Amino acid sequence: MGKVTVPSVRARKVRAGAEPIVMVTAYDAPGARIAEEAGVDVILVGDSVAMVVLGHDSTLEVSVDEMVHHTAAVARAGTRCLVVADMPWLSYHLSVEDTVRNAAALIRAGAGAVKLEGGAKRVPMVSAIVDAEIPVMGHLGLTPQSVHAMGGFKVQGREQGAAEVLVEHALALQDAGCFSLVLEGIPSEVGRVVTAAVDIPTIGIGAGPVCDGQVLVFHDVLGIEDRITPRFVRRYANLKADAVAAMAAWADDVRTGGFPAERESYHLPAGVDADHYPEDPGATIGLYGAAGDSRTA
Ligand code: KIV
Repeated sequence: MGKVTVPSVRARKVRAGAEPIVMVTAYDAPGARIAEEAGVDVILVGDSVAMVVLGHDSTLEVSVDEMVHHTAAVARAGTRCLVVADMPWLSYHLSVEDTVRNAAALIRAGAGAVKLEGGAKRVPMVSAIVDAEIPVMGHLGLTPQSVHAMGGFKVQGREQGAAEVLVEHALALQDAGCFSLVLEGIPSEVGRVVTAAVDIPTIGIGAGPVCDGQVLVFHDVLGIEDRITPRFVRRYANLKADAVAAMAAWADDVRTGGFPAERESYHLPAGVDADHYPEDPGATIGLYGAAGDSRTA
């Protein structure tokens, strides 16, 4: 399988016979490798990193520098997935120049595209980024960076006429050059209407089954995050519980003398007498990374 590109994602409309797009968030190199080996198409370095990795209560606290740091880690994994980096709050709100510079920082970190939240009012920023040859993914519906304006993380688009309004925003983003759209936290019926109205693929999260793809947060799919489970999440593993059990088993082995065993221990070469070593043998024989150390030997 070749590299997933922006044009190949742009062409993935299910109504044209395409397979649904699979997108998952990842925030580091091991996460990116897991996504690739699982056959995922697109890795989103989401600003959800603020909540699932950095311990914040919303996505508002993450900075461009932090997004650059995580994007670079994901990109270094060198996967075939398209890497999309989220533009964090306030990185595309102040001026066109600031917006393009921030988008470019994420591209230089290794992303192949950026994502930003909001509808028609974002069109000038989207156009400027696209003008700088940077592909943009839009994001409509429950946009977590608007948590205070929305009064919480609440399903959007439930009122009469909401579908029409969302379609207008979706078409505005499409016309501005977005190559795809995330639809988050909206009724399935509205997700279906928006998906039918646009030519670019929609990628849903809590937007029902009639989208051109689906995205979930890495820690939710794998059950690493077990505190909150939104309705739209399906867990395919319980890695938090597995990790706690594994760590507890190791802690128990340490406390009872069961770790390390012979197979996890190094030995002096034959003929070298431990009694003739200086006070700190580690300093002399380079136990922790000096030349000649081989932790696997
Ligand atoms: O940051 C994120 O994880 C996202 C997804 C929920 C789409 O934007």
